[in-house]
Amino acid sequence: MKRVHVPELMDLRWFPSALRAPMTNLIVVLARKMGAVPVLAGLVERALAQSGAKRVVDLGSGSGGSMPEVVERLPGVELVMTDKFPDRGAVERFNDPSRPSVRYARESVDATDLASAPAGVKTMVNCFHHMRPAQARAILASAHRDRQPILIYELTDNAVPFPLWLLFLPLSLLLVFITALFFTFAVRPLTLRQLALTFVVPIVPLCYAWDGQASMPRIYSFGDLDELLAGLSSDDYVWEKGHATNAAGKKKGIYLLGLPTATKA
Ligand SMILES: C[S@@+](CC[C@H](N)C(=O)[O-])C[C@H]1O[C@@H](n2cnc3c(N)ncnc32)[C@H](O)[C@@H]1O
Repeated sequence: MKRVHVPELMDLRWFPSALRAPMTNLIVVLARKMGAVPVLAGLVERALAQSGAKRVVDLGSGSGGSMPEVVERLPGVELVMTDKFPDRGAVERFNDPSRPSVRYARESVDATDLASAPAGVKTMVNCFHHMRPAQARAILASAHRDRQPILIYELTDNAVPFPLWLLFLPLSLLLVFITALFFTFAVRPLTLRQLALTFVVPIVPLCYAWDGQASMPRIYSFGDLDELLAGLSSDDYVWEKGHATNAAGKKKGIYLLGLPTATKA
């Protein structure tokens, strides 16, 4: 496998939620700036149409991720956000009675236990790279076994050779750190905590830069996905993978879509 499991801070159980939430807030800004929302909306719309589902169950939602903006473009679609480490602020913010079609599960939901998640199109946005190969394979096998629709999406591919990634790491860490300072002003809601942990004690941009860079070699390449999918094919379920593209044909991340071919009621 090309993938290298470089450690990420966010995977540490003891990693404070006071840092986790501001870091995932920056990912939301990054995804928006990269134009991921319309691209994701197109993929989710296809998965909903083909599976007959009316609900999206997002796994590893962080502080909400892109999905709330995605379902705004898809009227009548329900969204359930989940995470292994649910962000308490996001849980309060998204469980708003005035928008009953969107909610964030209070309890921890582990993406590796796919079968126990609520029914609907499962989405994993910038989350699949957190799974080790055995877990990743188990998720795909579970989706295939239960003929459940699943969309896996990552903002970038893993095209850079690992030695080159290592060589440029100091420079890329610096660039991402600086970018994080600017992105902070686009975080909504922007809290005093986010500002303080960015501009007084810049621990959020530091951790964000590390995890952002560490996640790149962890992303499953197309070849890696083929390895994971070996033996998981059948006439009534199809896998599709590739570069996601926007309306102008520009590459906007990569995706793996697993879809049952027979529509369920
Ligand atoms: C890089 S963040 C992405 C957050 C969000 N999807 C987005 O795009 O902004 C990855 C998220 O996956 C969550 N995560 C990691 N391992 C997980 C697991 N086994 N089950 C569910 N969530 C997990 C982390 O807590 C984190 O919130």
